[in-house]
Amino acid sequence: MLVSKKVQNLQPSGIRQFFDLVLGMKDVISLGVGEPDFTTPWPIREAGIYSLEEGFTSYTSNKGLYKLRLGISRYLKTRYDLEYSADEEILITVGVSEAFDLAMRAIINPGDKILIPCPSYVSYGPVTELAGGIPIYIDTKDDGFKLTPQGLEKSIDQKTKALILNYPNNPTGISYTKEELSALNKILLKHKILCISDEIYGDLTYDFEHTPFPTLPQAKENTLYLNGFSKTYAMTGWRVGFACGPKEIISAMTKIHQYTIMCVSITSQMAACEALHSGRSSVDQMKREYKRRREFVLEKLNALDLEYIKPNGAFYVFSLIKKTGLSGLDFAQRLLKEQKVAVVPGNAFGENFNDYVRISYASSFENLKEAFLRIEEFLRKGEE
Ligand SMILES: Cc1ncc(COP(=O)(O)O)c(C=O)c1O
Repeated sequence: MLVSKKVQNLQPSGIRQFFDLVLGMKDVISLGVGEPDFTTPWPIREAGIYSLEEGFTSYTSNKGLYKLRLGISRYLKTRYDLEYSADEEILITVGVSEAFDLAMRAIINPGDKILIPCPSYVSYGPVTELAGGIPIYIDTKDDGFKLTPQGLEKSIDQKTKALILNYPNNPTGISYTKEELSALNKILLKHKILCISDEIYGDLTYDFEHTPFPTLPQAKENTLYLNGFSKTYAMTGWRVGFACGPKEIISAMTKIHQYTIMCVSITSQMAACEALHSGRSSVDQMKREYKRRREFVLEKLNALDLEYIKPNGAFYVFSLIKKTGLSGLDFAQRLLKEQKVAVVPGNAFGENFNDYVRISYASSFENLKEAFLRIEEFLRKGEE
């Protein structure tokens, strides 16, 4: 066998499997994507272009451009009164994806358990396994897709190393209030369990102020805060993210990063500096549009009598399609074949979510309108 047992045993991503079907089909409206439909705002693109014109084509420091780390440090201080040293507590990574992988490899000893509330982003489980950890999935379906203090407490044992929290959440859009987070924080502190907080959608929170986990009492030394530019600034293709945390963990992650990646592309880092400098008004504009689309999608789901729990952020709704009598996978496959609308089957986000589909509203208003006409037709035909 050429391939390791570990990798052989890894399941391919449910999203990828499904989207292999979408590829090659014409006129499909995709409500399946997990990335902004906006192009990166022009001043950010321009900064990337200028950096090339000016000859910035080299490696950067392993940790990332100092200017960018400083920009992130200042941004977090101004926005959330959160202090991270640009020298020792921030690492620039190839998206949150790399930051998460580094984190797992930096903290896990073989057999350590990592708690993952479900439904969850597709890579948490597999990346944990690749790093030698054991993912422990906590089903949040009966608690409105939120991890409860009781659910957390129950899942902890001697081998538990960390909790992965993601809010606003992919695929549900659910977020947590400060009070809810504080209750979870108390339990983590009590048991000395690290919180890895993936807040990549933090800036896309619509209903209340987003609370970064490390701003909670005594949480900073016990949290690895992950964020990036992909979603907030519509910069998925640039591949820039960052990790902030205790210097011991950041330095361990930097060690792996320097042997495997060396540094993020300088062009992308220069563009990210500009995003921090001038991107705010574009973010606000995109956020307003996502919110408008959210209202539209929820209205349509109400009219179609399809259940969901109101998302507070990101650009997803996780809808229960049980009443159609179809599984999420059948629903998604038939909707694609019969009406050319793509949504993601819920089981891509955990094995207990066969009755759900994830609908993304990172698609133009026109597309959303047309897609819901088609979904309506699909459901009407199903009832005939
Ligand atoms: C919750 C979550 N974390 C991380 C990522 C990866 O983002 P990045 O582009 O920063 O690697 C995604 C992308 O969809 C996501 O939804």
